[in-house]
Amino acid sequence: ASTLGAAAAQSGRYFGTAIASGKLGDSAYTTIANREFDMVTAENEMKIDATEPNRGQFNFSAGDRVYNWAVQNGKRVRGHTLAWHSQQPGWMQQLSGSTLRQAMINHINGVMGHYKGKIYAWDVVNEAYADGNSGGRRDSNLQRTGNDWIEVAFRTARAADPAAKLCYNDYNIDNWSWAKTQGVYNMVRDFKSRGVPIDCVGLQSHFNGNSPYNGNYRTTIQSFAALGVDVQITELDIQGGSATTYANVVNDCLAVPRCTGVTVWGVRDSDSWLGSGAAPLLFDGNGNKKAAYTAVLNALNGG
Ligand code: G3I
Repeated sequence: ASTLGAAAAQSGRYFGTAIASGKLGDSAYTTIANREFDMVTAENEMKIDATEPNRGQFNFSAGDRVYNWAVQNGKRVRGHTLAWHSQQPGWMQQLSGSTLRQAMINHINGVMGHYKGKIYAWDVVNEAYADGNSGGRRDSNLQRTGNDWIEVAFRTARAADPAAKLCYNDYNIDNWSWAKTQGVYNMVRDFKSRGVPIDCVGLQSHFNGNSPYNGNYRTTIQSFAALGVDVQITELDIQGGSATTYANVVNDCLAVPRCTGVTVWGVRDSDSWLGSGAAPLLFDGNGNKKAAYTAVLNALNGG
């Protein structure tokens, strides 16, 4: 196959990208995005600050622009994200305790209700674990509402849209030997054993010098999958854009049946949150295919 999406589809997988609503008027951008990808994540437009800027008042204008562009072009959509310590609107940052807990529940119901039946998978909870060696939760206003906030979020999400796969999504959980990876693994194992609804783990996979790709990545994917959840590579970018590393990542996903797809976090290097200099994506700023693109396409095509 000659595009990333079509090549991934040969094994029943998807290949996606993050889309920014502000770039949908850039035809160079949309031409590549439409041609190559069959799954879309809104880079910012479905986050808490975008969708509930004032308490109880939802705004889906930007989220719907991304959603509609995707669906009108035959793509599926991942929802990102419902409960997160970051990108909270000002009103939410000021809440705590049971008031915040209820606001989180209302937010999940409001956003998932709007997109009910339309989303392939939601990142229900994002980045709730701490970096470093603790293997424990990150401190946040949500965490301070009680350790059960994550399972409450997932139970709320299941009731709000039973058709969506429910994911826990995080960065620095790619390396199997890291404490953060083990912390999330233990949470997912606990949730599965107690019947807390969770369907997938999102490995963001932002690789750089401090958190490089490691050869045990396949073990990480296999280990999560063995708990009975899908694994999705949700925000892939590789600082420097190594073609070899891109191929390794894709081959590791292809090696695990429950690794259902890969999303890169942007279209061209110039679209990356890291800036063009990092050259972390598959297309250069002029929209040309990079060596990493060819490596990914070849891997998806079985070579
Ligand atoms: O749109 C406003 C603009 O109106 C304003 O003038 C400008 C001034 O700062 O900000 C613009 O918003 C920025 C937004 O991106 C859109 O460009 C925000 O400041 C900026 O913080 C925001 O960054 C996003 C970041 O998440 C915020 O946490 C990045 O685009 C986005 O790529 C990044 O994505 C995250 C995932 O959601 C979670 N995992 C990590 C990943 C990378 O950080």
